[in-house]
Amino acid sequence: MEEPLLMEEPMIRERITIFDTTLRDGEQSPGCSMNLEEKVRMAQELEMLGVDIIEAGFPIASDGDFAAVKAVSAQCRKAKIAALCRTAEADIARAAEALQRAIHPRIHTFVATSDIHLEHKLRKSRKEVIDMTREAVKLASNYAEDVEFSAEDATRSDVDYLCEVLAVAVEAGASVLNVPDTVGYTMPSEFSRLVKTVRQRVVGARNVTISVHCHNDLGLAVANSLAAVEAGARQVECTINGIGERAGNASLEEIVMALHVRSDRLPFETGVNTRELYPTSQLLSAIVGFEVQPNKAIVGRNAFAHEAGIHQHGVINNPLCYEIMTPESVGVPANTLVLGKHSGRHALALRYAELGFQLSPADLDTTYKSFTALADRKKKVYDQDLISLLLPAVKSRCQKSEVKAGGNQLATTGVAT
Ligand code: KIV
Ligand code: ZN
Repeated sequence: MEEPLLMEEPMIRERITIFDTTLRDGEQSPGCSMNLEEKVRMAQELEMLGVDIIEAGFPIASDGDFAAVKAVSAQCRKAKIAALCRTAEADIARAAEALQRAIHPRIHTFVATSDIHLEHKLRKSRKEVIDMTREAVKLASNYAEDVEFSAEDATRSDVDYLCEVLAVAVEAGASVLNVPDTVGYTMPSEFSRLVKTVRQRVVGARNVTISVHCHNDLGLAVANSLAAVEAGARQVECTINGIGERAGNASLEEIVMALHVRSDRLPFETGVNTRELYPTSQLLSAIVGFEVQPNKAIVGRNAFAHEAGIHQHGVINNPLCYEIMTPESVGVPANTLVLGKHSGRHALALRYAELGFQLSPADLDTTYKSFTALADRKKKVYDQDLISLLLPAVKSRCQKSEVKAGGNQLATTGVAT
């Protein structure tokens, strides 16, 4: 008798809400300010990228921020629009006013909970901050169904007190509790424990989402965010290119691709179209005039380039030797070079020249051989691949200017054979 087929259970993937704060926390960082038109353009791109929530600004902070939240609210039809406010009545009213035209508005109110902030910034007692939290969340709930509460500097707060404040926020009507690592101080294992504590002691069986918001002062923002997801957080706050206060916020593209590439360990999904990551990163870069660091994961110009000879050899044989994701999967545009016997060689030289490398006939000969070997195996050859193919000696001989590999900065040649 034939054995019954064992049907594999489809894996249920929980959704991680991607809360983008490029236009608020990101824009707050020096050199990253955007005007109204630029913010609206960026919001359109973020919506196309598929983020769930766009935090468009801090309306009480300036007329510019108010106008931006208002304009983005009118523009975006799909993503939720969040506006930040402190726990003050005027702040909340201003945020609500700016959000009036949003189809899905969210009021995001925050107050600090660490003793150092209470004593030196707010000059409030713990009891006063609890009262402020209750009043603010209640008031915000009168304006919007969707209210998020953030306990600023949560990771340096007394845990019992933090849980007490968060519980008050839930009682008052908050449906999202954000646990920010405001100063980028925590470590993955420690943050994971904190999120689990909040889950057990505050959320329990209630329909409340735990959110995290990590800064990158120790370079741990993405690692901490992912540890929090494993511990039960279901919303992650992040920014394109990781821009933000000081060393920045957790980078959206890194979080999304970590969830995507390591879905074996992290059984979650997001609504992000990964192929829009690179174009979105490039747009932000162009708007703020801030180039992405070359070795930045996912969107840096070297993110897919292989320099070492042994790597090149492996990549030529099979790109998967050193690539855990393809440039295409994050939207890096492919080169449209089409190879032919002679004109292919000419086209290659031309493309190298555009990338800043003038190849001598002998160097072109050597490189062309590697190129054809790679082109045989890879359907699409990227600028990063071309740079990878250059042997170090050739590279140092022929580099005439700064390499500008990748992306939108360069028009692809589209040379026919
Ligand atoms: O870093 C932080 O704590 C913040 C809050 C306002 C969420 O940006
Ligand atoms: Zn922040």
